[in-house]
Amino acid sequence: MTATRFLRKFVLVFTLSVMALCCFSQTPQGRDEYEPIEGQPGKDVIWLPTEQALAEKMLNLGKVTSQDYVIDLGSGDGRIVIAAAKRGARALGIEYNPDLVALSKRNAAREGVSEKAKFIEGDIFKSDFTQATVITMFLLPHLNLQLRPAILDLKPGTRIVSNSFDMGEWTADESVAVSRDEGCETVHCQAHFWIVPAKVEGTWKLPQGELELRQSFQMFSGDLRTAADRLPVVDGRLSGDRISFKIGYDHYTGRVVGNTMTGTSTSSGSKTEWHANRVAN
Ligand SMILES: C[S@@+](CC[C@H](N)C(=O)[O-])C[C@H]1O[C@@H](n2cnc3c(N)ncnc32)[C@H](O)[C@@H]1O
Repeated sequence: MTATRFLRKFVLVFTLSVMALCCFSQTPQGRDEYEPIEGQPGKDVIWLPTEQALAEKMLNLGKVTSQDYVIDLGSGDGRIVIAAAKRGARALGIEYNPDLVALSKRNAAREGVSEKAKFIEGDIFKSDFTQATVITMFLLPHLNLQLRPAILDLKPGTRIVSNSFDMGEWTADESVAVSRDEGCETVHCQAHFWIVPAKVEGTWKLPQGELELRQSFQMFSGDLRTAADRLPVVDGRLSGDRISFKIGYDHYTGRVVGNTMTGTSTSSGSKTEWHANRVAN
C-alpha cells in the first residue's frame, strides 16, 4: 500500500467514525429527540398515552369549554392538556418525568397552544389541583382511591374524568366507550365521569322539623323528624351543589351552599319554597 492510498483510507475511516459518533450518540441523548416508549416506568404508574379518540370523548364527557381550567394528573406527552387547550380551555399537566414535561411543552408549541397549555414537573400526590374545574386522569385503580379523599374535597361541581379506572364504591355518574371503528385500538377504550357532590351529611333544620342525612358520595338517605312523625328521606341525590330528594309525596329540589340549602318542593302539582340550615355535622 502506497503512502497516499494509506492516507486516503485513514481520512475516509476517520470521517466515517466522526459521522457515526455524531449521529448515533446524539439521538438517544439529544433532548429534542426524546421519544417516550409505551410502557416505560413512571413514578407510580407507567406511561401509556390515552388514545386520541378517547381523549376527545373524555373532554366531551367532562363538558369542557373555554370557561374551564382542566388539570391532567400525570400528563404524559401532554395530549389531553393540548386537546383541552384547543377547545379554548386553560389547561395544566402535572407530570413527574421531566423529559415528558419538556416533550409536552414542545408538542404544545407545535400545536400553537402554549399560551393555554402549561406543564409542570411535580408529584400528583404533592401538588395543588384545587383550582381545576375539570380533572382528567389515566392512572391505576389504587391511585384513584388514594386521590379520592382529595378529589371529594374539591369544590362541589368539579368534574372528574378517568380513563379506564373507577373510584371504587363512588360509582360513576356516567361512562363512555370508544369502539375500534372510532379509533381505539387498545384495551383502554372507556372512561368514567363523576361530579364532586356537595357535603350534606348531618342534621338540618327545616321549618317542619329536623332532617337527619347520611351521605354516601352522590347519594344520601335519612329521616325527617317532626313533632308527630318520623318520615324517611328517599331518592336522595346530589349532582355537584344540586340536591333532590323525596319525603312522602313531596319532591324537594334545590342548591346546597355550605351549611344552607334552598329550593322548591313540589307536592300534588303545587310548589313551595324551602330552606334548611345545618345545625350539626
Ligand atoms: C398512563 S400515563 C397517562 C398519560 C396522560 N395522562 C394520558 O392520558 O395520555 C400516566 C403518567 O403519569 C405519570 N406519573 C406517574 N406517577 C406520577 C406521579 N406521582 N406524579 C406525576 N406524574 C406521575 C407517568 O410518568 C405517566 O406519564
